[in-house]
Amino acid sequence: MAMKVYAMTGGATGIGAALRQQLADAGHRVISVDIREGDIIADLSTAAGRETALTGVRELAADGLDGFIACAGLPPVAPVQLIASVNYFAAVEMAAGLKDLVGMRRGTVLLVASNSAPMIENDHPFVQSCLAADEQATLASLADLNGQSVYAGSKRALTVWMRRNVVAWAKAGVRLNAVAPGITLTPLTAQVFADPELGDVMRQFGESVPWGEAAQPGQIANVMRFMLSEEADFVCGSVFFVDGGSDAMLRSDQF
Ligand SMILES: NC(=O)c1ccc[n+]([C@@H]2O[C@H](COP(=O)([O-])OP(=O)(O)OC[C@H]3O[C@@H](n4cnc5c(N)ncnc54)[C@H](O)[C@@H]3O)[C@@H](O)[C@H]2O)c1
Repeated sequence: MAMKVYAMTGGATGIGAALRQQLADAGHRVISVDIREGDIIADLSTAAGRETALTGVRELAADGLDGFIACAGLPPVAPVQLIASVNYFAAVEMAAGLKDLVGMRRGTVLLVASNSAPMIENDHPFVQSCLAADEQATLASLADLNGQSVYAGSKRALTVWMRRNVVAWAKAGVRLNAVAPGITLTPLTAQVFADPELGDVMRQFGESVPWGEAAQPGQIANVMRFMLSEEADFVCGSVFFVDGGSDAMLRSDQF
């Protein structure tokens, strides 16, 4: 198998670190952007950080990318502005900023959504505000929202953004998809488990998962690696739930 070149955000820990390791073990080159450690250190909540990230990736992958994975994300217990800006706006801006490099190789962009995306309605003002693409106005409108709504809303907006862009991006040579993980044991969920308010909610959700309580990061990364691979090259516009059956339990009649 030929070596591929991937760029990703959020490769330092959790699901992203598992995917980065799996891709590297398979002989691929991975350019990792993260606030903590990686090939490019950048804070994706800021305009300057996104600029650093995009410039850095473009320098390292001038011959194009086989894939880009937007994995960086913050939990529902983080400040709401940070959740919105990293989980939605940075993911979309990074994907758009690397689209031409991915199109050069008829590659793929994989967004990391969540099985919490369907837990908020599509016409929620926050979801619509994200999709309207005005980051400043969106961040200014968050004061009354809790972290859970902003987290789920950021992931719903990301999923809808993906679906809306599938046709145009396919024409530009980019296969666009999202993975929707369920509860997975990472530093992100450790923060939620430790939260006085959300810890119990998260534990109960874990106990309700039909197929075991929670995933290990590698179980999510396995599916992501498949979605990036040539074996998945007719998978386009999919939202792939990897959640032990939680979404099917909560929304049996919808798909
Ligand atoms: N763990 C779960 O249960 C779960 C479930 C559904 C979706 N997800 C999503 O999966 C993705 C990965 O989450 P995880 O659980 O592996 O969490 P994690 O905290 O282990 O990883 C998140 C990564 O994003 C990076 N990051 C955070 N803020 C950043 C910023 N401002 N700039 C650049 N990088 C930044 C972190 O350093 C880290 O490497 C996230 O998008 C998350 O929303 C996780």
